Amino acid sequence: AALDAKLKAKGRAYYGNILDTNTVNTAQVTNILNSEFGAITAENAMKWDATEPNRGQFNFGNADQVANWATSRGKLLRGHTLVWHSQLPGWVSGINDRNTLTQVIQNHINQLAGRYKGKVYAWDVVNEVFEDNGQFRNSVFYRVLGEEFIDIAFRAARAVDPAAKLYINDYNLDYAGPKINATLALVERLRSRGTPIDGIGSQAHLIVGNLAGFEEQLVRLGQTGLDVAITELDIRIAKPVDSNKLAQQQRDYELVTRACLNVPKCVGITIWGVSDRNSWVDSTFPSYDSPLLWDDNYNRKSAYNGADVALN
Ligand code: G3I
Repeated sequence: AALDAKLKAKGRAYYGNILDTNTVNTAQVTNILNSEFGAITAENAMKWDATEPNRGQFNFGNADQVANWATSRGKLLRGHTLVWHSQLPGWVSGINDRNTLTQVIQNHINQLAGRYKGKVYAWDVVNEVFEDNGQFRNSVFYRVLGEEFIDIAFRAARAVDPAAKLYINDYNLDYAGPKINATLALVERLRSRGTPIDGIGSQAHLIVGNLAGFEEQLVRLGQTGLDVAITELDIRIAKPVDSNKLAQQQRDYELVTRACLNVPKCVGITIWGVSDRNSWVDSTFPSYDSPLLWDDNYNRKSAYNGADVALN
């Protein structure tokens, strides 16, 4: 059976993947999504630059396409993402007063989360708010509003779609260090002041052979008592790719899938792409390759068996 069915049989919510306008008409991709995965995240279509390129001017064409694909097939929908410093239009980055930026955040969330109200399983409310050193990232949101921008965003999201699980999401939460510490400390502060937060997303953009401590850190996230999700999993290989590295990748996918099973609060895993052909890794890390479960020609890799064996 499919990865999704097997993870659900273990009492978890989904094994998911991404979709966007570049793949929605590619049958090799959508057939795999249909048969193997139970949740969909839009890779780009729900981001700020795509949905509100100018103030108050909302475009939901691409986002609707992804959302409709998912919901019409009974897939869960993960919303990604409401407040992020990247893929942020210039008109937002230029705001420098508290009232305007607060209203802009609230309106963006009201419109975007409002459009998909009742259809979204979970929203990544804030994404990548910390630097790896544990300092807040110097985004327009933090510069103008300080940490409170996070409370503003979570409160707005809860108000507009009370059924959606609300997540903080980040990368490099898979090893010990200041970033995961800062994330856990922030989560405690948010809860202590009554800000609604339900989950922590660990993106898990990983490198083959470099997963020591992954489970230990996922355990720490789960110890908060919040839901935990692996939200953007991929495990890239330093070029040249060879059979030893692919075998290690198989073990690594097994390790990540088992780690989720070993953390009772881990609700699901989303892999950040179907085929290696469409991965963001190609352009961002040209010296790495082959991060996913299907190769450039949509053939299953041994990495698939790694994820699968963990579920058997
Ligand atoms: O849409 C434009 C298109 O009009 C233009 O012709 C083309 C030329 O470069 O660019 C297109 O935009 C690209 C966009 O993806 C849509 O394809 C951007 O250049 C490209 O930078 C963007 O990359 C995305 C990246 O986020 C941007 O930060 C990746 O697809 C996407 O996989 C990646 O996803 C992020 C998560 O959202 C957050 N966590 C990290 C993860 C990986 O970077």
